[in-house]
Amino acid sequence: MTLEAWLQSATTRLLAAGLDSARLEAEWLLAHVLRLPRMQLALETRRELTPTQLETVDQLLHRRCRRVPSQHLIGTAAFLRHELVVDQRVLVPRPETEGLALMAIDHLRRTTNENAVVRALDFGTGSGALILSIAAELPSIEVHALDVSDDALEVARLNADRLGLGGRVHFHQSDGFRQLPPGLRFDLIVSNPPYIPTAEIEILAPEVREFDPRLALDGGTDGLRFYRYLATESGRHLLPGGYLMMELGFDQALEVAGIFKAAGWIYESVEKDLSGIERVLIVR
Ligand SMILES: C[S@@+](CC[C@H](N)C(=O)[O-])C[C@H]1O[C@@H](n2cnc3c(N)ncnc32)[C@H](O)[C@@H]1O
Repeated sequence: MTLEAWLQSATTRLLAAGLDSARLEAEWLLAHVLRLPRMQLALETRRELTPTQLETVDQLLHRRCRRVPSQHLIGTAAFLRHELVVDQRVLVPRPETEGLALMAIDHLRRTTNENAVVRALDFGTGSGALILSIAAELPSIEVHALDVSDDALEVARLNADRLGLGGRVHFHQSDGFRQLPPGLRFDLIVSNPPYIPTAEIEILAPEVREFDPRLALDGGTDGLRFYRYLATESGRHLLPGGYLMMELGFDQALEVAGIFKAAGWIYESVEKDLSGIERVLIVR
């Protein structure tokens, strides 16, 4: 079978499975199996697939039609300039979270003082996407990552090692801030907390509903449970003048900003993502 014939038949099957970007998804799978840049496929449309290649790519296609996320099939997800290992133990890092990582990096660059140790914490680190991006850009920052899930921390550790940052990151298995060493205070806390209202999880795309850990999604009845917790508990883990930067779910900005104002925080800003959705709340 030629590459083009496979792509056409795979596109049809992926469309039938309910995927919008079926042709693109088919190209990703094929490029992955052939270890080619996706654009190269267009130059080799008449190339024949070997029986082994065909079997491998058909197996991936079969799983993708069952809505296994493509990042799980490939084993990694792109986040900024990094490639992170992902599987069912962690949330697949999302493009909108890249904005929060860039804001945190920018903030730390502007506020870092060469004479003092600057410490940052990622609350709910998952794959480590946020804290590892920060650590990679800012070699002098002391970085900490916290998650309640041992499984997630295993993946985050693996990613830290793969990026050559293994020795840099302090990992903490902790339910909220409870198991953090006492006395540890941060200049910056970043968090992409679980923020989906419990009842809405059932109506999410199968890739999310069935393959992202529920623990990474479930924000309680109204989705705001973790913001309330951060508003009351994170202040005592910040140094004077410290900042908290959080990702927000769709349409949550007003309510979450209200929670923080009522708890005595100073509102800094709400930042939009590339789709114009209010995505990050910054308070101090
Ligand atoms: C939405 S995911 C974010 C993962 C990663 N930071 C990212 O942006 O891709 C939320 C993370 O919070 C963690 N989490 C959930 N409940 C927690 C709790 N009580 N204490 C600490 N972490 C928790 C989950 O295990 C999950 O890894």
